[in-house]
Amino acid sequence: MRAPLAVVILLLTGLAGSGNADAQAPADEFKKLCISCHTIGGGRIVGPDLKDVHERKERAWLVRFIADPQSMLASGDAYALKLKEEARGVIMPTVPGMTMDRARTLLDLIEAESVLEKSQFAGVQVSDRPFTKEDIRRGRDLFLGKIRLAAGGAPCVSCHSVNGIGVLAGGGLGPDLNQVFERLNGRKGLVTWLTAPATTTMGAVYGDHPLEADEEILPLAAYFGELAKDPQESSQASTLIFVLLGIAGTAAVLMIFDGVWKNRFRGVRGEMVRKSVERVKG
Ligand code: HEC
Ligand code: HEC
Repeated sequence: MRAPLAVVILLLTGLAGSGNADAQAPADEFKKLCISCHTIGGGRIVGPDLKDVHERKERAWLVRFIADPQSMLASGDAYALKLKEEARGVIMPTVPGMTMDRARTLLDLIEAESVLEKSQFAGVQVSDRPFTKEDIRRGRDLFLGKIRLAAGGAPCVSCHSVNGIGVLAGGGLGPDLNQVFERLNGRKGLVTWLTAPATTTMGAVYGDHPLEADEEILPLAAYFGELAKDPQESSQASTLIFVLLGIAGTAAVLMIFDGVWKNRFRGVRGEMVRKSVERVKG
C-alpha cells in the first residue's frame, strides 16, 4: 500500500516549482492543480469525481467552465448551480493562468483516464480501516509535535490551534482546525487534501516534506474527526478564556512591575536612610 504512495509523492515533490506551466504535461498539471479537489474514479471529494465527465456535459461547456468557473456560476447557468449545490456551496476557483487550450488538454487527459480500469488519479492509497483510539492518540501527538513527522515537516501546532491542547498553545498563522473534518467533507476529503495540500502555505511546507499515508495522514484524520464531534462553541469558549487570560496577564505584569518598582524605591530609600544615619553617627 505504501510504496505506490511514495511514488506519487516523489512525483508530486518533483513537480512542485518545476518552472513553466505551459510546458508541463497535462498529467503533471492535473496533479498540481486539480487533484486536491477531484479524483478520476475515486469518488467525490471537494469537487465531483471527474470520471466520464465528458459524457455528462458537452465539451464546449466544460472547457468554458474549467477556464472560468466563477463567471459560469455568476451567469446563473442551471447545471453549474446544480454542481455548486452538490458541492455544498464550494465554488471551484479560477486556476491562475488557465486558458481554453489548457482546459482542452486537461479534458483529453480526464477522458483518457476515465476509460482506464484504475486511473492514476483515483485517489490516494490511505487505508480506510476504521479509526481506533490509538489512531486518535497518535494523531494528537503528531499534531503537537510529540511524534516527529517522518519527512521532517513542521508540526501542525506551530501554525494551527485546536481545542483541548491548552489555551495558549497553537499558532495563529493557519486557521483553527476544530471543524476541518466537516469542512473538507469528512474522512475522504480530508485525507486527500492532506496528501497533496494545494494551498499556498501548506503546499510550501509539505510539498517537500509530504505526510505519510497510514502512519500520519490516517491518524491525523482520526484526531480531526474526534475534534469535530465537539460542538463549535468550545472554540468560542477558548477564545473567551484567551481574552480573559490576556487581561489577567496584563494585570499580573502591571502588578509585578509595580511591586518591583516599589521594592527598588524602598531599597534605594532604605540605603539613603542608612547612609544618613551612619553620617549622623559618624
Ligand atoms: C478548490 C477545489 C477545486 C479545484 C482545485 C478544482 N476544482 Fe473543479 N470543481 C470544484 C467544484 C466544487 C466543482 C463543482 C462546481 C462548483 O461548485 O463550483 C468543480 C467542477 C468541475 C468540473 C465540472 C464537473 C461536472 O461534473 O460537470 C470540471 C470539469 C472540473 N471541475 C475540472 C477541474 C480541473 C481540470 C481542475 C484543475 C485545473 C479543477 N477542476 C480544479 C472544485 C475544484
Ligand atoms: C507553517 C505554518 C503551517 C504549518 C506547520 C501547518 N499548517 Fe496547515 N495551514 C496553514 C495555513 C496558513 C493554512 C491556510 C491555507 C494556506 O495558506 O496554505 C493552512 C491550512 C490547512 C488546512 C485547510 C484548512 C481549511 O479549513 O481549509 C488543513 C487541513 C491543514 N492546514 C492541516 C495541517 C496539518 C494536519 C498540519 C500538520 C501536519 C499543518 N496544517 C501544518 C499553515 C500551516
